[in-house]
This record gives sequence, C-alpha cells and structure tokens, in this order.
Amino acid sequence: MSLRVAVLGAGVMGETLLSAILRSGVPASDVVVSEKRAERADELRAAHGVEVTDTADAVRGADVVLVVVKPQDVPAVLGDVAPVVAPGATVVSLAAGIRIATFEAALPDGVGVVRAMPNTPALVGQGMFGVSPSAAVTADRLEQVVTLLASGGRVAVVPESAQDAVTAVSGSGPAYVFYLAEAMIAAGIDLGLEPDVARTLATQTVLGAAALLAESDDPPEELRRRVTSPNGTTHAAITTFDTEGVRAGLEAGVRAAAARSQELSGA
Ligand SMILES: NC(=O)c1ccc[n+]([C@@H]2O[C@H](COP(=O)([O-])OP(=O)(O)OC[C@H]3O[C@@H](n4cnc5c(N)ncnc54)[C@H](OP(=O)(O)O)[C@@H]3O)[C@@H](O)[C@H]2O)c1
Repeated sequence: MSLRVAVLGAGVMGETLLSAILRSGVPASDVVVSEKRAERADELRAAHGVEVTDTADAVRGADVVLVVVKPQDVPAVLGDVAPVVAPGATVVSLAAGIRIATFEAALPDGVGVVRAMPNTPALVGQGMFGVSPSAAVTADRLEQVVTLLASGGRVAVVPESAQDAVTAVSGSGPAYVFYLAEAMIAAGIDLGLEPDVARTLATQTVLGAAALLAESDDPPEELRRRVTSPNGTTHAAITTFDTEGVRAGLEAGVRAAAARSQELSGA
C-alpha cells in the first residue's frame, strides 16, 4: 500500500524535502502540500505537480505529516492538525528546539511523533538528520520516516536527550566548515592567490577531504597523520593550530552550541 505524505510549510526546508521525496520515487499523487499564500501554492503546483491545499485537507488521510514551519508557527499548525490527523499517523517535526512532549500534548493519543533536526546540506541532497521517535512510533513507522528523510541525506536515530548534541554537531555544523573555508580562502588570498582560485582550492579540498573521510574506515586522526610528515608543511600548520588553541576553541564552540540549544528548547 502506498504511503500518503503531507508536507506542512513549503519554505526553504519544506520544498527541499518535497523535491527529495519526489526524486526518491514517491509519486506526486501521494504527496499533498499545505501553503497559505495562493501565489506560492501556484508555484509549487507548477514546479512539482503536487496538490497544494490547506492544512486540514493535507493532513486528512496522510500516513506521515511533515511539519516544516518555523518554530513560532508550530502551535497554530498543531491546532489545525489535531482535529483531523489519523490515529495511526506519524507527525514528523523539523522545527528546531520543539520537544516531542509539546507535540504529544497537542495531538490525540496514539499519534506518533518524530522529532528531526536537519541541516542545510539537505539543499543539495547531502543533509544529515538526527531523528528521535516518541514511544508511540512503531519500528515499521520509524522505518517509513527514516526512508523518507534519507531521500535528502543520511539519518541517525538518537534518543531525544541527544537532540542538543545533534544540533551542536550536525545542525550548526555546516557553519563550522564554512568558517574553516573562510579562513583558508582569506589566508590563500593573503598569500597572493586570486580570490576565485583560493575559493576553488578551499572548496574542493573540503569536498575531497569529506569524501575521503566518508569512504574510509580509518578515523580522521589517522587520515590526518598520513598527510603530516615530521617537520613538513602540514606539521607546521597543525602545530600552529594547537599553539593557537584552535582545536580547544572548536570543541568549546560545539559545547556552547549544545548549551544554547538546551536553553532555547526550554529544557
Ligand atoms: N538545522 C537547520 O539547519 C535547519 C535548516 C533549515 C530549516 N530548519 C527547520 O526547518 C523549519 C522550516 O525552516 P525554513 O528555513 O524552511 O523556514 P521558511 O522558509 O520560513 O519556511 C516555512 C514555511 O512555512 C509556511 N507556513 C507558516 N505557517 C504555516 C501554516 N500555518 N500552514 C502552512 N504553511 C505555513 C511559511 O509560509 P509563509 O512564508 O507564507 O509564512 C513558509 O513557506 C524550521 O522550523 C527550522 O527550525 C532547520
């Protein structure tokens, strides 16, 4: 039997997920989108061939309901979802910082909730989703959600207590890599490279190193050791990073992100 999917909120992340789900082979006739603005609804119909309607219509008959609105819009959306959601449906929240208990309190008993933290590389099909199911989500239903989200990247299932750590490592993580790229580009320009050449060198190095790390069974420190000969150029850079406290700073930054995530979710 086919899976019926409702996507509530087709902004940046909602449309990204919608595209990924359709690309993965889910027929457009099994996906319904809810969007408030008529002009945007027309755009989505034209671009994706999906039905675009109001939230209540989209949710009726849906097996999986993806909530992809800004956190401040979640209470209003849940008010529209609660009266019409099917008892066996799974509601998946992509909204940062909102706890499973908030969804459960607003939805009828038995409706499963999955809290998911995405990241922006989902825009290019290379996202990372950390997902946490509520007690009402069966293994089969969790598998359905994992398969849907995997159309936009990789998925790790974690307990909800790990969501602040997920936010700190992969949710905010792309910004850390962009920060590294900014520094490599700035230093390259300072050393006399043309800006576009410096950007190409840094970008392809980040991409290539990530691909090597993803494909290798070795830990990153071993991959790093292999390009670091004693007293060579890489050794000079890494020694300087250590002296300047770069690694300690990065670790402290990730911890600060987790602490801020905890504060924002009111835990
Ligand atoms: N970890 C990350 O890096 C990351 C990245 C992206 C997104 N996210 C999460 O994803 C969620 C969406 O973010 P976004 O960047 O995609 O935001 P966005 O571009 O503002 O999209 C939200 C969409 O929801 C629509 N909307 C609001 N209320 C609605 C309602 N009652 N019914 C139907 N649609 C409604 C908005 O329509 P209008 O514009 O007409 O109001 C807008 O199109 C957020 O909760 C965010 O926390 C996380």
